[in-house]
Amino acid sequence: MDTLNIAILGCGTVGGGVAQIISEINNDLTARANKKIVLKRIVELDPQKASDRFNLPLDLFCGSGKELTNEEANRFVQEIITAEDIDLVVETIGGKSDFVYNLCLDILNSGKHLVTANKALLAERGEKIFEAAESKNVKIGFEAAVCGAIPIIKTIKESFTGDKVLSVSGIMNGTSNYILSQMQNEKLEFETALKMAQESGYAEADPSLDINGGDAGHKLILLIKLAFGIDISKEDLSINGIENITKEDIDFASEIDAKIKLICYAKKINGDIYATVRPMLVKNSNFLSEVSGATNAVRINNKYSGIHILVGKGAGSTETAMSIVSDIIFIARYGDKIQNLSAKQQRKFADAREFVFPYLITFHTGNIPGTTGFIATAIGKQEINIETVSHNRHTGEKAMFSVATMPCTLGQIENAIEEIKKEKPGMLLSEPKIMPILY
Ligand code: NDP
Ligand code: HSE
Repeated sequence: MDTLNIAILGCGTVGGGVAQIISEINNDLTARANKKIVLKRIVELDPQKASDRFNLPLDLFCGSGKELTNEEANRFVQEIITAEDIDLVVETIGGKSDFVYNLCLDILNSGKHLVTANKALLAERGEKIFEAAESKNVKIGFEAAVCGAIPIIKTIKESFTGDKVLSVSGIMNGTSNYILSQMQNEKLEFETALKMAQESGYAEADPSLDINGGDAGHKLILLIKLAFGIDISKEDLSINGIENITKEDIDFASEIDAKIKLICYAKKINGDIYATVRPMLVKNSNFLSEVSGATNAVRINNKYSGIHILVGKGAGSTETAMSIVSDIIFIARYGDKIQNLSAKQQRKFADAREFVFPYLITFHTGNIPGTTGFIATAIGKQEINIETVSHNRHTGEKAMFSVATMPCTLGQIENAIEEIKKEKPGMLLSEPKIMPILY
């Protein structure tokens, strides 16, 4: 029987999970791959910690078992890149630094397959990496990079080849969904919920990426490339995070039977692409409102087969590692028959001001008679139909209320706000918050 020799670079939450699964169900994997699956070496800065955490023999790790300096680790990484007895490298160090970028290029240029969970790298610096894989006829597995355990990459790439994707949307960041769920269901503060997500291993090394929508943006970029074959960069996306979501926003959402979720949304309309990541109010009648904690959900609408929904764990150690291991087995089985990602078409990306949704707009004003009426009139003047106006919350000299609109463009709302500012300077105590409503 042939052998597939594997090395893992970075044995933290995800890399350690990969080593654990390969060790625990090695016979099954070997049978499924019809190749002996051998984990040969691991490079990790703190081998003892990883060995204890994932119950792995210390002699699998490069070095003497003592902590490695970055220079020592890098020397071992270079040895793996040039090693003749390694066929496939798992990169689970993470990040889009020059170091990780160059090591991925070197792995591919040395004729080895690469499997990675690194969405930041592939979404922002993926072009040359995919080109290197093409020119060397080696494969890149990145199922784990989008929504952890959910097999969304293979589903679009292999199962929907007979269809045309019309839209992709859903909840694609476990940490932010976990934080919002804890704030909504357990009434926890933002910071406490974030700490809990970090302790569970869901958050990125730089958790601001989870909170500011950047991580969800990386995943949406990869799905847009895959589903539409379109070349897209982060600048083409309109991205907002959950950093400014308050208890009051959650209350206003409940008042219209909705929950706040960080939603990724991409749709083709007349050849243009509407793509955004932003907090939306999801009506309780929409299944996405029930997707809580680190669970992710992706909704694909296809021209011929209609709507498909995939739900599963979007983050976590063995959850994400499972996707990496599945990619390893897929490459072991089908090797050079697998098609790498190619996204070369150019398309126009619609301006966020043109996005049509029903919206919820929250206003902070002075507690002054006539304010609600003036604002509602200004909204009406922009041809926006109002669905509901919330109860006014008064605290001393201040007031707060929200307006739910019928479908309109973001541009119409922004024009109304500009008008209010021009006509009544000082009426708005802060920039109104605008969130789309998803039915
Ligand atoms: P971790 O920080 O847990 O793991 C990274 C590991 O790499 C750490 O153990 C780190 O050691 C080690 N490391 C750092 N530099 C080097 C180096 N030069 N050589 C060898 N090892 C090194 O991150 P995760 O496992 O959470 O994330 C890894 C990747 O997976 C990222 O790209 C992330 O975006 C992605 N991902 C993560 C998910 C999750 O649920 N956590 C889900 C989906 C994708 P030390 O800690 O000492 O710095
Ligand atoms: N930090 C990411 C999340 C990990 O919370 O979704 C999975 O990609």
